Amino acid sequence: MAIPTWSIISAVVLTGRIVSGAVVSSTPAQTFHGIGGSGAWWPKDIHRYPEAQRQQLANLLFSQDGLGLSGFRWNIGGGGVNVSNPTRAPETFYVSPGSYDWEKDAQGVYFMQEANKRGVEITAFVNSAPAPLTAGRASCNSNFVTGSGNAYSTFLADVLQRFVQQGINIRYISPMNEPDNSFGPSPCGQEGMIVVPNQRAEVVNSLWNALSARGLAQRIGIIVDEASTLNRGTSQYGTWLGSVLDKVAALAHHTYDFPSDASYTTYVADTARRFPGKRTWMTEVCCGMGNADGTGRGWAQGYDPTIRNALMWSGMVFQSFNVVNETHYDWWVLLSKEVGCSVTTAGCATSINTAGWNDGLIYYDGNFATNQNYQFYITKHFWTYKHFGNFVKSGMQRLPVTSFTSSEAALRPYVLVTSSPTQFNVIVMNPFSSASTLTLTFPLRACATSAFRTSASQDFASVQIATSGGNGVWTMQLPSMTQTSYVFNKC
Ligand SMILES: *[C@@H]1O[C@H](CO)[C@@H](O)[C@H](O)[C@H]1NC(C)=O
Ligand SMILES: *[C@@H]1O[C@H](CO)[C@@H](O)[C@H](O)[C@H]1NC(C)=O
Repeated sequence: MAIPTWSIISAVVLTGRIVSGAVVSSTPAQTFHGIGGSGAWWPKDIHRYPEAQRQQLANLLFSQDGLGLSGFRWNIGGGGVNVSNPTRAPETFYVSPGSYDWEKDAQGVYFMQEANKRGVEITAFVNSAPAPLTAGRASCNSNFVTGSGNAYSTFLADVLQRFVQQGINIRYISPMNEPDNSFGPSPCGQEGMIVVPNQRAEVVNSLWNALSARGLAQRIGIIVDEASTLNRGTSQYGTWLGSVLDKVAALAHHTYDFPSDASYTTYVADTARRFPGKRTWMTEVCCGMGNADGTGRGWAQGYDPTIRNALMWSGMVFQSFNVVNETHYDWWVLLSKEVGCSVTTAGCATSINTAGWNDGLIYYDGNFATNQNYQFYITKHFWTYKHFGNFVKSGMQRLPVTSFTSSEAALRPYVLVTSSPTQFNVIVMNPFSSASTLTLTFPLRACATSAFRTSASQDFASVQIATSGGNGVWTMQLPSMTQTSYVFNKC
């Protein structure tokens, strides 16, 4: 076995001195799948924008100059029957069994195609089956009908096949997003369909069969069941998942319980024990207030576009990756108009209020149709999520960090190191009130190349790269209330 020269050199360097700071392990903890977000429900509005703004947005979301997302969740609509909010009433292709209107959902399809053009992988997800297939013949406040699995899955598989044949890189399908919630009573604020636990195996089996019949079962993985909280997953999996486990690609969950590290660890460890080898993915969350360091964090109404709330959400991402070793993370709706104030009023979009919602990374004007205001209002959340979007890519590995000094210990949860064949990326945040310094040693020779910071005054701004004392120990300055990515070449 040939040992590369650089590893001998670095080993000598590393063993010849006393390591003074944190140490990046050479043993990967997990291999990432990616970072994404959802195309519910803003496409219905933004598709009405001029093409120049639609392209501006597609670049903001899907190019590396923007968020650099690796995944996009396309919402296959159920027709929006009985949904009172028109933006949240996606069109459906379904007309009758085997008959489809492919002119529908031009809005969602447009942004899926723009994502696909930029190399983003697509996950299709469904909040409700087409209204005619549900118990109440509506797209919310209704239930999946036992025995309708083949009809529902024929629809889904026909839709997937059509877009795969058009060259769209659809790799996953989630057929029952939050199956415990119908989002009733009617008229409803959004689509939703209850699929009770003992109906869920039928959905998976019929979908697997429909995908198999079209040669798609190996290409498109089925992800389930997008339980809104970890507790729901834990308490319900046992009644249905075991019999269809081999047909499931990943166990997708949401974190609307804003779990503690302990309860998240219990969920992941319990799931790994009962369903060995199945990955768990964090595929939806939004809408919380709280402090940058995570104190006071929880589901709540309110709009806080500032670095305080943006760092609070980054803490959630660090938790999924660093504490429980998950491989995929999705924000909920990438765009929202729930700003809670009149967005054209000076200061509205940049100030905290209690009437809006932290559900978007970018906000837009709900009155665009009458005032032609096509501006995008970009929150600090966009910039902090960009650190993950840019530096957590499919195939990269996480390298755990150990041996923090006592002065660095508080940063431990917030240091994420990703490794590609050519680079180390250190994403680190300091959500505390005083500045800090982080010193790191890598398992291979590293050369600092760039650094980017988001703070109250900076938006992914280029800043001073990590500095080296020449002994392989890299030093990074971390001002209070900042998130920074330090990039190193393996040199
Ligand atoms: C849908 O709305 C109609 C009209 O209000 C109502 O009669 C019907 O019960 C609703 N369906 C469901 C499933 O809530
Ligand atoms: C995550 O990975 C770390 C480091 O490899 C390990 O110590 C820890 O037990 C893992 N946590 C879970 C919940 O699997």
